[in-house]
Amino acid sequence: MKKYTDKTLSPSERAEDLLKRMTLEEKVGQMLQVSYNALNPVDYERYKKRGIGSFLHALGKERDDIRKKSAKTRLGIPPLLGIDAIHGHALLNGATVFPSQLAMSCSFNRALLFETARATALEVAADGLDWTFSPVLCIARDLRWGRVNETFGEDSYLVGELGKAVITGYEYDGNIIACAKHYIAYGEATGGRDAYDSPVTERKIREVFLPPFKKAVEAGCGSVMTAYGSIDALPLTANKRMLTEILKDELGFDGFVVTDWENVKSLVHKQRAAKDIKDASYLAVEAGNDMSMNTHSFYKYVLELVREGKISKERIDDSVRRILKAKFRIGLFDDKERPDKSVIGCENHRKLNLAIARESMVLLKNDGVLPLKDNVKKIAVVGPNADSIRAQFGDWTFFSHPLPSAIAKPRGEYHTVLDGMREVFGGDKIIFEKGCDIFGHGGGIEKAVDAAKRADAVVCVIGDCLAQNGEYRDRANIDLTDPQTELVSRLCDTGKKVIAVLVNCKPLCIGMLKERCAAVIETFNGGAMGGLAAAELIAGRFNPSGKLSISFPQTSAQMPCYYNHYHGWHGGQYVDLKKDSVYTFGDGLSYTEYAYSNLKLSKKTACKDDVIEVSVDVKNKGGMDGKETVMLFVNDVVSSVLTPVIELKGFRKVFIKAGETKRVTIKLNIDDLAIIKSDCTREVESGDFEIMVGANTRTYLKTVLKVK
Ligand code: BGC
Repeated sequence: MKKYTDKTLSPSERAEDLLKRMTLEEKVGQMLQVSYNALNPVDYERYKKRGIGSFLHALGKERDDIRKKSAKTRLGIPPLLGIDAIHGHALLNGATVFPSQLAMSCSFNRALLFETARATALEVAADGLDWTFSPVLCIARDLRWGRVNETFGEDSYLVGELGKAVITGYEYDGNIIACAKHYIAYGEATGGRDAYDSPVTERKIREVFLPPFKKAVEAGCGSVMTAYGSIDALPLTANKRMLTEILKDELGFDGFVVTDWENVKSLVHKQRAAKDIKDASYLAVEAGNDMSMNTHSFYKYVLELVREGKISKERIDDSVRRILKAKFRIGLFDDKERPDKSVIGCENHRKLNLAIARESMVLLKNDGVLPLKDNVKKIAVVGPNADSIRAQFGDWTFFSHPLPSAIAKPRGEYHTVLDGMREVFGGDKIIFEKGCDIFGHGGGIEKAVDAAKRADAVVCVIGDCLAQNGEYRDRANIDLTDPQTELVSRLCDTGKKVIAVLVNCKPLCIGMLKERCAAVIETFNGGAMGGLAAAELIAGRFNPSGKLSISFPQTSAQMPCYYNHYHGWHGGQYVDLKKDSVYTFGDGLSYTEYAYSNLKLSKKTACKDDVIEVSVDVKNKGGMDGKETVMLFVNDVVSSVLTPVIELKGFRKVFIKAGETKRVTIKLNIDDLAIIKSDCTREVESGDFEIMVGANTRTYLKTVLKVK
């Protein structure tokens, strides 16, 4: 028996044995990934027969053909088949479409996120695939960026915690590999310009952008994707400091690094940092990329570079070892038994989807109109997103990828907000008028106003659409579009209670909704069950518990407006704007009220390697059971480099019955209070730290911790 076929050996031992048997061509082949969408048929056939490391976006017959042909190659090394299962295995029509990452982050529920990832992995594996390009660990601080919807929001700690939960979920059953992306500081590009330069220093990277990737590495994440952009003018694809010295050597990442789509080619054609693809291939490999996504001539040039002695054989072996280990880890060489196809879009996943959709919704305003009373007779449901499953799904589903489709119809169960309202309140109570489109008036506003006049309450579903979000679709202005603004204000003019429901990919400027509507609900992209969850929330069938993971500016010019900014701005606000954002990180109401008291630290003075307990009593003072996310913030009173005015360092979501008081304890690792100094070293500086525990960034109890 060949050693690499021996299941009793570890992935490393098996990879080592296989590596010894491989030719240089076979090795370099492992370092290439191709997408069948981006190839001419002749090339594509060639790659299938020759055998390469990975294919992406191959579904159905394509996937089967690839498997069959690669099995016939000399060593029969199976390819890793990758897919963007970003919020569910949603490129496959019929699979479960969970809410977007941004929506799910508002649940602050690690356990539920873990479950959604596990469910996604089952569906991906059942569909014959092995690798998801998820989660996104980018931090969304400039809302102009087209990809805000893909993130867990604006806070590094939250991104890291949820990222860890999701990675663990994806890889839990050993079926698939996760991919933490996009490494690094991709969302921080100037002006929110996708794939552009992020003018950040290494110090800033270590403070804000690296910690989530560190957690990903600690969680055992199998792969990391190199970002498109550059850091202070050095493209990530060619950035040895970031990829090799920091990610692999310092953090000890032992998975493999894949470039993003055609990054190698981009070094030449977009970034102009290499004279030709050969030069770019050299830079990419030397920087630490192990696999090139979709620059096909990378294969030929890397072979040449090794033969010319410019890239060492050891460097190639290191990449191939990493890739093979991933394949052994998920049993690709062992005729593994995949989950049954019946898990795809199954009932359990539907239930889970509804559970996470409920917890992801954020009730931002309620003047008492919600929950709608049982005796409500007629409800006008209006707005361009009331019956738009495309808008509700958001980016990265079969509607948009791998190729956009204008005609696709969802195969699985789904509920728009209109569907949900009909189901929850009864069809005869609902009058539907679209009112307007996202971009055009469409002549419907009068009809919507008429409907509102005939109703006791108005549910107005507005937001944005795919054309305003995603790659290549950054926005300079994040206002609600004019027709929608006009629709809402005409509805409010009727004097009826208007409940605004936002179905949108990212925060918009919604000051007008806050001012004029009776209630505001943020759903972001709620996935297949989002519409039902929104209607249930309106009916009071569950108690909302979502809180914002991202802040909402008053105007586009107020960006960035993230909550954890530094001290030191003269005046602290623009002279022509109010101080605060419209809504900020942590905001979110429920149908009950929580009172915090009795904040205690297990130690008032701690050493730098201590873990202390921070506890507080939380009383549910209202009449409805609910879940509350208790947040722990800190403020480093004096520090040798600037630190945020307030910053999240812990949270726990707890269920509290009406009338009940729970003692909630959150562990605080004193090491998490470390700052990154100007020379990039990390240190917990002695001194006072304010510890704040409460519902959000404005409502909390405070005490002081001394660190020696
Ligand atoms: C995106 C990645 C994605 C890849 C493969 C790229 O354009 O930036 O996030 O995983 O395409 O679809």
